[in-house]
Amino acid sequence: MQPLRLQKEFDLLYEKEFLLPGDKQQDIQINKHEHEIWAKVFWRRRFRHAKREDPELQFVFQQNPSTLLEIGAGYGRVLRKLVERNGGNKKMRSIQGIDICEHFAPYFHLYKTEYPSLRNVEMIYDNFLESQKLKENSCDIILLPMNTIPSFSIDLLKTLFITVGRYLTKDGMFLFSNYKIPDKERVSALINRRQGHSGELLLELGSGFIAAEYYDLPARKTEYGAYNVTYARYNTFSRDNTLQKKELFRSQTEFILHQHLQKIIETCGLSIEIFDDTSHSFTYGLTKQ
Ligand SMILES: C[S@@+](CC[C@H](N)C(=O)[O-])C[C@H]1O[C@@H](n2cnc3c(N)ncnc32)[C@H](O)[C@@H]1O
Repeated sequence: MQPLRLQKEFDLLYEKEFLLPGDKQQDIQINKHEHEIWAKVFWRRRFRHAKREDPELQFVFQQNPSTLLEIGAGYGRVLRKLVERNGGNKKMRSIQGIDICEHFAPYFHLYKTEYPSLRNVEMIYDNFLESQKLKENSCDIILLPMNTIPSFSIDLLKTLFITVGRYLTKDGMFLFSNYKIPDKERVSALINRRQGHSGELLLELGSGFIAAEYYDLPARKTEYGAYNVTYARYNTFSRDNTLQKKELFRSQTEFILHQHLQKIIETCGLSIEIFDDTSHSFTYGLTKQ
């Protein structure tokens, strides 16, 4: 990212009054996903996410796995569903989750108190791409749900697939979902989608609230698909409405077209066994070649 382009974005955001005169550009945290506020926001959205359909899960038990790892497991939302479908841990002997954001740890603890079926789940807070805490050739299923793949930049996708290949058992499967961007025409739908301001108020009983404000810049076309930039402002208030903290973030999401993703997958020693387009997302099931 060129500083010149960043400067252009800042100018636009001051003009649109998303950035305010007191905001300092050096306070904008760039592509920082493992921040405490992100865990707080995600946890406070849990009621909204409770009924979310996760299309990857229907394929998990078809593989008859005895070991499973979820990448980006957060506070355990998907793992709870899996444990429940797993008939009280009868079928799988090991269920693990890993998340780069250690600030999810207290929320996983709270969630486990609410859903004791999670007690045998092992949660690791570490970067999946660099972790030394996982065992090679040990996972029958590796899951990356909730369209998280675009959070890995195109440069990191190869590393992601190669790392997954190291942890999968010989007949193991990597299941993940991706936004539906089937072809170049659909990229223009992404480019034309709603831009500009949006916001949400995130409440948590006993802990005050977070006023979140977002600014979505127009998506840009690339040779692999498109990318989009979102600025987020989080104002944290205490229960007596006193402003405690102001935080600003810039994050970039890279959307990759199916045919480009397919090429990267093949160069990493994996092949596409399942490609399902019947739900809100594309679901992929990859095995080792
Ligand atoms: C969209 S959230 C999904 C959370 C959870 N899977 C769910 O569906 O409720 C994506 C998660 O991936 C995590 N993540 C991103 N990069 C990661 C990495 N390199 N290693 C481990 N976790 C990562 C983020 O911290 C975030 O919690």
